[in-house]
Amino acid sequence: MDHFQLKNGVLHAEDVPLSAIAEAVGTPVYVYSRATLVRHARVFREGLSALDQPHLAFAVKANPNLAVLSVLQKEGYGADVVSGGELTRALAAGMAPADVVFSGVGKTHAELVQGLESGIGQFNIESEEEGYELAAIARRLGKTAACALRVNPDVDARTHEKISTGKRENKFGVPLDRAGAIYAALAAEDGLDMRGVAVHIGSQLGDLEPLESAFTKLGALIAELRAAGLSVTHADLGGGLGVPYKPGEVMPSPADYGAMVARVTSGWDVRLTFEPGRVIAGNAGILLTRVIRSKRSGNGPPFVIVDAAMNDLARPAMYGAWHDIEAVAPNGNRMTSHVVGPICETGDTFAMDREIDALAAGDLAVFRTAGAYGATMASSYNSRGFVPEVLVDGDRFAVVADRIPADAIMDAERVPDWL
Ligand code: LLP
Repeated sequence: MDHFQLKNGVLHAEDVPLSAIAEAVGTPVYVYSRATLVRHARVFREGLSALDQPHLAFAVKANPNLAVLSVLQKEGYGADVVSGGELTRALAAGMAPADVVFSGVGKTHAELVQGLESGIGQFNIESEEEGYELAAIARRLGKTAACALRVNPDVDARTHEKISTGKRENKFGVPLDRAGAIYAALAAEDGLDMRGVAVHIGSQLGDLEPLESAFTKLGALIAELRAAGLSVTHADLGGGLGVPYKPGEVMPSPADYGAMVARVTSGWDVRLTFEPGRVIAGNAGILLTRVIRSKRSGNGPPFVIVDAAMNDLARPAMYGAWHDIEAVAPNGNRMTSHVVGPICETGDTFAMDREIDALAAGDLAVFRTAGAYGATMASSYNSRGFVPEVLVDGDRFAVVADRIPADAIMDAERVPDWL
């Protein structure tokens, strides 16, 4: 359930007509609903109510906007970060360092130092090499790094290949058959407190079965580690739960997911961490756009050219992803069209041959389910600026990220005087 609904014929974010936001801020603009973020955060937590004190760490990569992080912080969420930049954001949003988990296959030396100096709760170590480097830094700084070892369980998450992370050939984690030896070696290192294991097999998962299979393998590993005399008090089950993008699409609910987790992890005797991203933020945001003009091309459907493009919302171009398109003030008519952005690539296409609300030049429209992996994946390709972000709360709204115009980006460039 989200709070982007038609009221008196106009699409609203909570109690604010999207036309008012377009008027005040211009288009394209990302719009987030606080009530939807809060609702999703609570529904996810409730789904896990059978567990003892799960630690919820929002995957900052899904939506790193400071206001969004602050909403989730107030809901008791910590953060899963994958860079020094994300760590800085999580702390700036008020998240306690102890509630931050640092994932990522390529943490740099500087990022490991930053994590240690910030006193974060857990490093998810992705290789033996990273573990030794972290141990050396921790000893030098006189600190101890709490760590989980991320394993690659070699399961097919049955999602888009570019966002599948748990197969043997993917770069993430350590192979399951070497995990015991690596865990033991790292547990012997001064400076590291090896306290658990972690797994994340992919994103936009529409099926619980691969997750169950990965968690089952993790449970067997925990038993193996304990049998070898090693201590395991924590397990991080990652994120990955899918959300519906298309009308009628059905995804496992947080309650189904929680029930599966409770069943599979019963008897593990660990504190569980979760790293949800999309399921919290995805349907809590839309990208608001205005139709520039339509053009006919041959005998096919018309091209509706909107002012948003693949640099603003990369998912359709990158993954062939579907985002629902709706008019802000639908007139009841429908049309079949191609919806495209202005960028000079054929890939800058949001929909082909799609039946949508009738749209004409000047009309406002939205791309739905753009709250996760939307603004955060933007670029300035074609010298387009960065789109602003707005947070709605009831009948009020605030710009929570300014538009960064193309000339501001150009201002950071220099032509050397020897040229
Ligand atoms: N934890 C780790 C270690 C991750 O790598 C990810 C996502 C998550 C948690 C959060 O997963 P979620 O709950 O959001 O599925 N840009 C792609 C998605 C990339 C996901 C990367 N990792 C997209 O737009 O579909």
